[in-house]
Amino acid sequence: MRILVSLADLRPGPWIEGLRAALPEAEVEAWQPGAAPADHAVVWAPPQQLLDEQPGLCTLFNIGAGVDALLGLQLPPRARIVRLDDAGMAVQMAEYVCHALIRHFREFDAYEAEAREGRWSFRKPRERDDFPVGILGLGVLGERVAKAVAHFEFPVNGWSRSPKDLQGVRCFAGQDGLRDFLRASRVLVNLLPLTPATRGILNRDTLSALNGGQPGGYLINVARGAHLVEADLIPLLDSGQLAGATLDVFEVEPLPAGHPFWRHPKITVTPHGSARTLRDASIAQIAGKIRAMARGEPVAGVVDPQRGY
Ligand code: NAP
Ligand code: GLV
Repeated sequence: MRILVSLADLRPGPWIEGLRAALPEAEVEAWQPGAAPADHAVVWAPPQQLLDEQPGLCTLFNIGAGVDALLGLQLPPRARIVRLDDAGMAVQMAEYVCHALIRHFREFDAYEAEAREGRWSFRKPRERDDFPVGILGLGVLGERVAKAVAHFEFPVNGWSRSPKDLQGVRCFAGQDGLRDFLRASRVLVNLLPLTPATRGILNRDTLSALNGGQPGGYLINVARGAHLVEADLIPLLDSGQLAGATLDVFEVEPLPAGHPFWRHPKITVTPHGSARTLRDASIAQIAGKIRAMARGEPVAGVVDPQRGY
């Protein structure tokens, strides 16, 4: 069995060593132009040349949850894409979203600003029932985030393509359920995959529907930058329709110097790190799936290219 590794700007060395240790029977190498034919590739945003030169690849193991970059490429005819299935990302996402939510709800950003000025002042406690949290996407990450948010006793709404029944979550599904979901939610967390159906879903119209259409909605975007129509956000913040936004992902990454999001007082920017790929957990998961596939067993995380995730 031969495995090629191509990880954009990540160092392939530690991944190759880890895969060799987990699968001693396999030949594992960094991809280079002209590499000998392989069975599997472990990739992040690989060059089209790799896919063109390896028509016999069976599997592309994506070292992230989102496969939008891969689906934009011309894939080898037989190759299946297998995405990471949690592998330590879900708990990180839960931490990040709970942190952003609680920082906003408890007004810790305002306390930090006042403390910098040496001011000792209290804010009126807010009711968590006035801050229902809506989670777009109830997949591997969205469901884990919903559980974590419910733990802090916020009302939780969730939206997915297919109907769901999750304890403690008011579930909405499909285009028909979107408007009611948005109106019932005040803090909106985006955990959708980027597909033609979800591109631009965070826009003036949808964001204005939050909180029953009243001012005070809050956005946490942790999925992909292209879900947000960036030009719509600042007018909504400046008019007070939205109270703020925490953004981990952007249309162009790294976020360009001089982009207005960097300095806007109601926007918190983080550098696409809400849920990092953990190398050891990811290698263990990929090696486990390769062994299961060799035994002819089904594996989780196989992407449906028609659905786009
Ligand atoms: P997932 O397991 O594939 O879940 C996707 C969810 O979105 C599912 O509930 C799915 O509905 C729903 N969905 C998809 N298309 C929809 C549509 N058109 N309408 C309504 N619901 C739709 O994905 P995941 O593992 O939770 O990851 C979600 C995304 O997070 C990834 O695609 C990636 O872009 C992003 N991500 C970001 C970071 C970061 O560091 N910022 C890290 C990891 C992942 P069904 O359940 O009905 O199929
Ligand atoms: C990161 O953004 C991922 O999709 O895993």
